[in-house]
This record gives sequence, C-alpha cells and structure tokens, in this order.
Amino acid sequence: MIAFILWREFRLSIAEINNFFSNSKLIFADREIAFFEWISVDEITSNFYKLGWNIKVIEILEELQEEKNFPVESEKIISEKIDFETGKFCYAFAQYGMNSNIFSSGIKVKKELKKANFKNARFVNKDSNNVNAAVFKKEKLRSLTWIELNFIKAEDRLFLGKTIAYQDVDSYSARDFWKSRDMWIGMLPPKLAQMMINIALTPTLSQREREKNISIYDPFCGLGTILIEALNSGYSNVYGSDLNEKMVEATSKNISFYLKQTTKAEVFKQDSSQIEKVDFLKWTRNISIISEWYLGSIMTKWHVTEEKIDLERDTLYKIYKWFFSWLKKIHFKWDIVICFPFWELKWKYIYFEEVYRLLRDLGFETKKLLPDNLEFKETRSWSLLYHRPGQQVWREIFKLKLG
Ligand SMILES: C[S@@+](CC[C@H](N)C(=O)[O-])C[C@H]1O[C@@H](n2cnc3c(N)ncnc32)[C@H](O)[C@@H]1O
Repeated sequence: MIAFILWREFRLSIAEINNFFSNSKLIFADREIAFFEWISVDEITSNFYKLGWNIKVIEILEELQEEKNFPVESEKIISEKIDFETGKFCYAFAQYGMNSNIFSSGIKVKKELKKANFKNARFVNKDSNNVNAAVFKKEKLRSLTWIELNFIKAEDRLFLGKTIAYQDVDSYSARDFWKSRDMWIGMLPPKLAQMMINIALTPTLSQREREKNISIYDPFCGLGTILIEALNSGYSNVYGSDLNEKMVEATSKNISFYLKQTTKAEVFKQDSSQIEKVDFLKWTRNISIISEWYLGSIMTKWHVTEEKIDLERDTLYKIYKWFFSWLKKIHFKWDIVICFPFWELKWKYIYFEEVYRLLRDLGFETKKLLPDNLEFKETRSWSLLYHRPGQQVWREIFKLKLG
C-alpha cells in the first residue's frame, strides 16, 4: 500500500493521483493523506517529478498494534539499512493523524543503535515536528544515505512506512525562473498546470503511448506555463496561442529552453473567439485542450463589485460560446481540461452558471474527477476548485468531453 501526503488542495491531489495511476484503488483519504493500492514503488519513483500536488510518498511497511512498538520496529528497519562499512547514516521520523512524541522515540532508537555499535547514526528531527522540504534540502538529505520513517494513524489503525519520494522544491523554481516576470497577468501555478495535464490524460493508454501520441493545445497560453509543464513531462507535441502578441513572444522564449530533439512546440497569435481559424483542431488525433481560460481583468478586493463581475461575465461568455460552439461543430471528441473563473464577493460565491448551461446545451459532459468511494465530493457539477488566499477570482476546474 502507498500513502500520499496531500497538498492544501487535497481534492485536486486525489483527482490527479487517481487519474494518473489509472489502475490504482483508493482505500482511505482525509485532508492530509490518501492510501492507494495497486501502484508499485517503481511507478511512483519514475513518475514522481510529473505529479503536481503531492509532496511526499510513503511505502507502507507494516501495520502495528501499539504506539509503543514504534522505537523497536524502527530500530529494526534502520539497522538493516545502515552502511556497515562506515556506519554513517541519517534518519528522520514523521507522524500523520496522531500526536505522539516521535522525538523521544527517535532518541531511544539512537541509544539502541549505539549499543549495537552504529555510532554514526544521526537523528535529523530537532523536535517533535516532521522534517519538511526546506529542512530536507538544508540537511542535504537527498545526497546522503538516509531513511525517513512515518507513523500514521488512519481510521484507528497504526501504520509504519518509509518515505520513497520527496518533492524537489528547487525544480519548480528552476522552471519558473525562465518566465518573464515583467508581465502583468495572472500566471497559473506550475503545480496546477501539471495537475491539469495529468487529469486530462486518457487512462486507457500506457504512459509511453500517451507521451508519444498525445498533442496538447492551450488557446490562452499567456506565459506558457501549461506548455512548459507538458514538455517537461515528456509530451512531444504542444501548441499554444494567445490574443496578445507579447504573450506569444514570451511563451516562445520561455519554452525554447525546454524543447528537446523529440519534442515540438508551435506558438501563434490567435483570438480564441475565432477558433475556427485553428485548422489543426479539425484533423489532429488525440489532441487535448488544456487551458486556464482568460479569467477577465484582474480585480482586487478594493475595486470588485457585482456590476463589474456582471460585465466580465458578459464579455467572457461571448468567447466561451463561440469557442465551444465551434468545437461542437467540428465534433471535437478529445478531452478538455479547463479552468473557468468564479468570484468571491464579501463571502458570497458567484458561479458562472450560464456557462454550465451553455456546455450542457451544446452536449459537453462533465467527467467525474474523484473516485466513487471518497467521502468528500466535488462540487455539484463535478468540478474542483482552486484559489489562493486573498484572491477575488477563483478557478473552477472541469474535465469535459463532447457526448
Ligand atoms: C489567465 S491568462 C493565462 C495565463 C497562463 N495560463 C499562464 O500561466 O501563463 C489568460 C490569457 O488569455 C489571453 N486572452 C484574452 N482574451 C483572449 C482571446 N479572446 N483569445 C485568446 N487569448 C486571449 C490573455 O492575453 C492572457 O495571456
């Protein structure tokens, strides 16, 4: 069994894992952790960098009867891993769903290891807190011989597992670094872009086939976040367009860095309300539209009003209507993963109801994103929500397909 530590947007994390490992089965989930079966350690470690939301993955080693067994069991596992030549080793503890004194357990383990002549084992935790990605980086744990053991309480059961993958915070900043920062647009967080790509994939194809055969088109590419994440995950054909010439230039500049011999990217200027001019949509097979839709002008809480939101909705609706009517006309049958805006105004949520109606009338079906056996649900239209604290315009993520 594999446990995924989830991010703040836990529903999105679960949707991504569920779709990416399409043969897996969800066993249990709360807001912090999700247990899945039928995913191998190899599958995780070779694909971890492509996953957006999850921050750490744990392989469950055993179920324990009592908390007091933690030090004894941990010592057994750790001493098996120690390098016998040098005796050098680092170990860390973490806990989820419980509030045990892992620090004192860690010290006990150290004493036992000393007795067994492993003098160089170092316990990394400084107190009873879990080691986080920043400490992981600071202590250079990635480059050392180390093990992290996790104590997890879920549904009154106790589990002991070892960490098999840890988010590499530097890889995101390295990708962001190349984007032009001087442009005033709401950029999509790279993690969310990755997650949308993983939600869009066709689960029936193998990972290899998906990467070889699938094309991705973002008709509102902005600075190219979705295209960059797609190239970084190994997709070979990416297309992007934007109304604004400057965005087209910025995207081209940003993605040139990620282009490999086996990948292809085309970026062009195009108003999406005239989508009928994008010819390749008619004849390209397996082309997924993955896009953060134009969310309207940026509104801060100081100048947002219901009238301004209504005006935005009118403008945006016209583009949506044209765009989706065209897709219907050409019988576009591939997956579409898209963020629509919705607004928060003094604790009131204003949803883009007329777009739901439009999509329904045109025959687009919303795909379910979460597994059936999960207690917390999507919204009533099966979308998932994303927002950053303090933002007025939120994002509602849909997976659509023409029925
Ligand atoms: C929210 S931004 C997309 C940001 C992008 N996801 C990123 O992370 O960089 C929306 C983009 O839509 C573009 N846009 C607005 N109206 C458009 C239209 N009618 N057709 C095509 N692009 C449009 C804007 O120029 C802007 O770059």
